Amino acid sequence: MNKISTAVLLLATAAFATASRAEAPAAKPVHGEYKDWLTLSISHRLEKQLMRTILGNEVAIKAARAGNTKPWPDGSIIAKVGWKEKTHPNWPQAVVPGEFAGAEAMIKDSKKYAETGGWGFGHWEGNKLVMNDKEKSATCFACHAPMKDNDYVYTAPVLQ
Ligand code: HEC
Repeated sequence: MNKISTAVLLLATAAFATASRAEAPAAKPVHGEYKDWLTLSISHRLEKQLMRTILGNEVAIKAARAGNTKPWPDGSIIAKVGWKEKTHPNWPQAVVPGEFAGAEAMIKDSKKYAETGGWGFGHWEGNKLVMNDKEKSATCFACHAPMKDNDYVYTAPVLQ
């Protein structure tokens, strides 16, 4: 093989390697136990281009269906699971979930989390629920404080 054809072959191999890397699918996110929970509602944050589903564990769903959410009973867990929005590749008017953006949790335990309205704040790292320390929980709680009359919860359950 002469020098030129070797160079062409090398370039072609490099181009192929780059192309295969670019086409490799993003790593599949690992989800927590919330993936088996039922839907309370959905939300869409315009300024962050995020779409979310708000899910409840069994205690939370039972409470929502019974209208027993002021306050939510101890043992309730609400998950907010987010994705970056993207347009559907075959239908540009449709906005659908793109890249997974993370999952946050609020856990009701009126004794343990008395300082933050009875709610513990956390997030899932993969399938592991990690509770935030007091300092970080205080920032979550501060932004949920305007919803005091609704037991600090923004979401109104829509599937009952
Ligand atoms: C800047 C204000 C703000 C901060 C800070 C904030 N939240 Fe929220 N949170 C909201 C709003 C607004 C909603 C409802 C709309 C939505 O779904 O985003 C919400 C909804 C939620 C929900 C669904 C239940 C509900 O109240 O509707 C969970 C769970 C949640 N947040 C967890 C957290 C956690 C954990 C933190 C801290 C790491 C946090 N939030 C910090 C504003 C905030």
